[in-house]
Amino acid sequence: MKNERKYLSGSLTLLMLAVITLFSSCKKNEEAFSSRKVSFNSDWSFHLNDSIVDKDTIGASTKWRTLNVPHDWSIEGKFDEKSPAGYGGGSLNGGLGWYKKTFKVAAEDSTKVTSITFDGVYKNSEVWVNGHYLGKRPNGYIGFQYQISQYLNYGEKENEIIVKVDNSKQPNSRWYSGSGIFRNVWLETTDKLHVAQWGTYVTTPKVTAEKASVNFETTIQNQNSDSKKAIVTTTIYKEDTKVTSVTQNITIAANANQTLKQSAEVESPILWSDEKPELYTAVTEISLDDKIVDQYKTNFGIRDFKFDLDKGFLLNGKQVKIKGVCMHHDLGPLGSAINTRAIERQLEILKEMGVNGIRTSHNPPAPELLDLCDKMGFIVMDEAFDMWKQSKTKYDYGNDWDRWHKQDLTDQLLRDRNHASIFIWSIGNEIPQQWDESGVKIAKELAAIVRQYDKTRPLTQAMNPPVNMNIDDVTLQFEKKNVQVNPIAASGILDLIGYNYAHQTYEHHKENFPKTPFIATETTSGLETRGYYDNVSDVVKKWPVRWDLKFTDGNPGNTVSAYDQVQAPWGSTHEATWKVIKKHDYLSGMYIWTGFDYIGEPTPYEWPSVSSYFGIVDLAGFPKDVYYMYQSEWTDKTVLHIFPHWNWKAGQTVDVWAYYNKADEVELFLNGKSVGIRSKKGDDLHVMWRIPFQAGTLKAVSRKNGKTVLETEIKTAGNPDNLKLTADRSTIKADGNDLSFVTVDILDANGILAPNANNEINFSLKGNGKIVGVCSGDPVSHESYKGSKHTALNGKCLVIVQSDTKSGRLELTAKANGLKSATIVITTE
Ligand code: GAL
Repeated sequence: MKNERKYLSGSLTLLMLAVITLFSSCKKNEEAFSSRKVSFNSDWSFHLNDSIVDKDTIGASTKWRTLNVPHDWSIEGKFDEKSPAGYGGGSLNGGLGWYKKTFKVAAEDSTKVTSITFDGVYKNSEVWVNGHYLGKRPNGYIGFQYQISQYLNYGEKENEIIVKVDNSKQPNSRWYSGSGIFRNVWLETTDKLHVAQWGTYVTTPKVTAEKASVNFETTIQNQNSDSKKAIVTTTIYKEDTKVTSVTQNITIAANANQTLKQSAEVESPILWSDEKPELYTAVTEISLDDKIVDQYKTNFGIRDFKFDLDKGFLLNGKQVKIKGVCMHHDLGPLGSAINTRAIERQLEILKEMGVNGIRTSHNPPAPELLDLCDKMGFIVMDEAFDMWKQSKTKYDYGNDWDRWHKQDLTDQLLRDRNHASIFIWSIGNEIPQQWDESGVKIAKELAAIVRQYDKTRPLTQAMNPPVNMNIDDVTLQFEKKNVQVNPIAASGILDLIGYNYAHQTYEHHKENFPKTPFIATETTSGLETRGYYDNVSDVVKKWPVRWDLKFTDGNPGNTVSAYDQVQAPWGSTHEATWKVIKKHDYLSGMYIWTGFDYIGEPTPYEWPSVSSYFGIVDLAGFPKDVYYMYQSEWTDKTVLHIFPHWNWKAGQTVDVWAYYNKADEVELFLNGKSVGIRSKKGDDLHVMWRIPFQAGTLKAVSRKNGKTVLETEIKTAGNPDNLKLTADRSTIKADGNDLSFVTVDILDANGILAPNANNEINFSLKGNGKIVGVCSGDPVSHESYKGSKHTALNGKCLVIVQSDTKSGRLELTAKANGLKSATIVITTE
């Protein structure tokens, strides 16, 4: 009940703070903000039962389990070949779940406004407080808030909140959705005169090196029964330093909302960019009778940008290529229950590769993802829908479209429009209605909603290629005579022509769309199993031939070669699309499908595969080889990466690839003997040697002007001998949320990774914390991600450890039959 206690004392703190702030400080006070909005995540009771559909049938005998949200119950279940969620849904079941929680609210808060905010509940949530029905929200990805003051007991009497979550009708998603209260929940308490929910809008209409103008539109809500005269001050801070502030008197009628416009100027602004993501904070304070009654914080960035028909994407006047990836919302073994550190780790891994853009495919993301993108410097395409009225799966959002789409899109815009990282709104992905007039009508309606709330960013839609290229027709190439322009593209509604795949068409963009700049909303769809390679003496299995057909000509065990040679038929290799995008400035950039593997949509739809192969990084967070191709192209790091591993049959012919940069040649040595020097020619992105295998050491040396730039080597591993544990962070916060991601490597007696080892590893943890996820990145594994043992894939496995609220020492041990075990200590503080 830690959070509740904090909440009770919060109201007092706020009063005291108001007084202190008035007389002395012009500094932001974090405490004041955190008492306005407190976490409501802890100590929920949960019960999963498809047959309890009516709240009143919950009885005394109903068995509840205590847990903290964010929570995803589907990830706790077993993979089920017959799951109604289908292979698309990751063969994990949905169902109907109930959550309840009791809580107290301080007596002095009876004069205030209390609201409960859910950042996302998948799906069809219905909420009651003390028996009063608050409402329903079908869309699982959008945040929503209910005001609950009028239903609360104040003081010592308990309150009860009940949430019904109905994800029982399946299938309703093309990918793994997860089920439950899978994002954060907040309790918000304000004065009756307060900034409305998502009530600020900060824009920077003019930006130069000398000066930026900053406009604020602030919606103030007066829930008093009399009109109020108040002073609204908006102060801009850079970190803790006050930059400037504007003040205005307002008179606001009883029970009314009023939107106030203010503007300020920032001298010599420090601009936000993907490379230097500098943020400012606007603090809105409402004062009534000399007391500050509300304080509200909005982070924003000052930046100037444009999508140009000739120059592509210009950020602060500089041409920046968007090197983006699409991401679904699941966090691999953690399922869809959001955890800020887990999102941050994904983004860190992507940043290291040189990624500077994220597409939130195909729904509004968790707010924490956007906060991190603001802070870490990603160019975000914020996407709203995967379908409009016409469904893609039987029970999906198409069924809720008529009643909910206006509100859901409006809420997404209001929630997200201050984020410095968002540069593009996408109103949909591969919408089935895009080819006829019904789609044009909807697109116009959605575009009007977007522009009503934000005109500062361009609007796109991830269309199928503008020629009606049936994705099954892999032979169709773009030819001018075939152009049958997508009616939405032709309608002029879109500010950016965005379509998925068909990289063969990109170089015709300016002929086809002479007025509208370009973005590749989704590209590539390469397929790889991390650490698995088909070699030339095997037949390279280019599966799937057709995504909707049975897998007939691939590898047993559904492995896919990790040389960049296998792709979905509608996509391309990684190299092919990047080569085109790289070539022309007017191609603003691309969002690759996908950064990380995700659960579901295993492509082809076939058991035993349960997770995707599209990621450049696998489900556990281990990079596949092509990661280093991008790193060599997209970063300043000096790169030399060779693969595959060096454990083959004697005499077998093996292709060795190298990704490198900052050098003009690479020489390969096998057991000390040169097997040749290679240089990239033209637009090559890798070099290759085809050599007979011989056990030993393969060494590569990259050189520039004859001088060694880098050296790297791979050695033949002996039998698996021992385990090695490496934590991404060995000190974590004792806050009950923080995570340490621990990599397990299976090594031979000489410390060389055993590249084919697939031992089962057992984990145990001593101390105040728990194991919350295990994963090898194997798309055909059916072992639980929530267990304490897991089978490694190609020498590697991941285990995730979470702190609790007591600080101390965690001791994680990994054991496997026949191997020496390993222990690692993680400190929580
Ligand atoms: C696209 C679609 C994505 C994903 C991908 C797989 O057509 O937009 O959601 O299904 O194909 O290649």
